[in-house]
Amino acid sequence: MKRGSSIGVGQLAALPILLSWIVVSSVAPSEAQLQVGYYNRTCPRAECLIRDVVHAAIRRDPGNGPGLVRLFFHDCFVRGCDASVLLDSAPGSNATAVEKASQANNPSLRGFGVINRAKRVLERRCRGTVSCADIVAFAARDASEIMGGIGFAMPAGRRDGRVSNASEVLANLPGPFANATVLVGSFAAKNLTADDMVTLSGAHSFGRSHCSAFSFRLYPQIAADMNATYGSYLRTRCPAATGRRDRVVDLDPATELLLDNQYYKNVQTGEVLFTSDATLLSQNDTAALVDLYARNRKLWASRFAAAMVKMGHIGVLTGSQGEIRKFCNRVN
Ligand code: HEM
Ligand SMILES: *[C@@H]1O[C@H](CO)[C@@H](O)[C@H](O)[C@H]1NC(C)=O
Ligand SMILES: *[C@@H]1O[C@H](CO)[C@@H](O)[C@H](O)[C@H]1NC(C)=O
Ligand SMILES: *[C@@H]1O[C@H](CO)[C@@H](O)[C@H](O)[C@H]1NC(C)=O
Ligand SMILES: *[C@@H]1O[C@H](CO)[C@@H](O)[C@H](O)[C@H]1NC(C)=O
Ligand SMILES: *[C@@H]1O[C@H](CO)[C@@H](O)[C@H](O)[C@H]1NC(C)=O
Ligand SMILES: *[C@@H]1O[C@H](CO)[C@@H](O)[C@H](O)[C@H]1NC(C)=O
Ligand SMILES: *[C@@H]1O[C@H](CO)[C@@H](O)[C@H](O)[C@H]1NC(C)=O
Repeated sequence: MKRGSSIGVGQLAALPILLSWIVVSSVAPSEAQLQVGYYNRTCPRAECLIRDVVHAAIRRDPGNGPGLVRLFFHDCFVRGCDASVLLDSAPGSNATAVEKASQANNPSLRGFGVINRAKRVLERRCRGTVSCADIVAFAARDASEIMGGIGFAMPAGRRDGRVSNASEVLANLPGPFANATVLVGSFAAKNLTADDMVTLSGAHSFGRSHCSAFSFRLYPQIAADMNATYGSYLRTRCPAATGRRDRVVDLDPATELLLDNQYYKNVQTGEVLFTSDATLLSQNDTAALVDLYARNRKLWASRFAAAMVKMGHIGVLTGSQGEIRKFCNRVN
């Protein structure tokens, strides 16, 4: 692990399982085309093989955990959960035209190598069976369990898309400067509620951000909705004259390797990086939920599990739509 951390990898491995296996049962009928245990008969070891790869990757570099959770979000919000975010441009074609080249993804998105490794294992064991889109969903679920003790069943049966278009990314993913109105709107466009948005934002309780994503809140002056002490600290980590290097800062300096409800406490004290985080206090409904989650970790964790499952249903391809890719970074 390259960056400094207050929790070592050894301690991470010993993280107690804080919550029991949460069964997520309420899926709306229109979303019912995915199934828990989808690979029961065709590749019974699929979920366990993926989990082993994710576990090893997080041991090697805990940053892979938050990376994989974010990868799932960025996949699902652009063309649905179809692994379009994993595609490289076809040889000889415009290298900046695919999703992963968008400024929202490049260079910040991580975990691609973990998905490719899991795919290689699965192709060896169950050739042509497990989609990359499902691998992304399982990997995000596993990372939530390993780094947050949030275990849950993830329905599967997604198929892989054949299109990836960079210009669709910023139109579908809200930016760090988004206010509550914009956030609620962009989640509604994916059939997710304001509550889902607040709940999923809790993912900002682990991982990192590049300074370039929030330095607009530090210069020329510290944003009014940022804790001034925290802002001064961030200025030391993200100098105004950046040079060529875009440094990184923990999203949650309190427990940056733990997916937990600390995020909501940080929102309340103004110790969050983005406008999209601070703005959760700007509306009564979202602020009330922030307060509830700040006080109730278990409630947040079970809602987070359900919201991840719900997010995993966005625009999925099923049945004979799309394909099962042989390699996650290119279409067959
Ligand atoms: C509500 C709107 C959201 C906005 C505006 C937003 C924005 C961002 C930004 C700008 C970063 C920093 C990337 C970098 O510079 O390295 C980030 C990181 C992250 N986001 Fe979000 N995000 C949002 C929602 C979500 C959701 C729904 C999830 C997942 C459920 C999520 C998970 C993460 C994670 C885990 C990281 C850390 C990634 C890493 O360490 O590699 N975010 N987000
Ligand atoms: C797979 O097996 C599990 C455990 O026995 C069961 O809960 C689930 O419904 C099964 N799923 C399918 C699609 O067969
Ligand atoms: C490549 O794609 C990017 C993003 O869609 C676009 O801005 C750029 O003009 C394209 N370049 C060429 C040579 O087509
Ligand atoms: C990519 O998406 C943009 C915006 O929706 C669209 O105008 C463009 O035609 C698409 N490009 C390709 C190659 O499909
Ligand atoms: C939120 O941001 C949008 C887009 O920048 C802007 O049009 C709108 O007025 C803002 N809403 C509030 C309540 O500030
Ligand atoms: C949202 O739900 C509507 C109605 O069920 C559906 O037509 C639409 O495809 C859904 N949108 C997404 C992004 O899943
Ligand atoms: C700023 O953060 C500090 C440290 O957590 C906290 O004690 C203080 O109350 C915060 N200020 C505000 C206005 O929330
Ligand atoms: C929202 O909170 C403000 C300030 O506390 C209050 O004046 C207003 O009545 C509240 N609005 C609703 C709809 O509860």
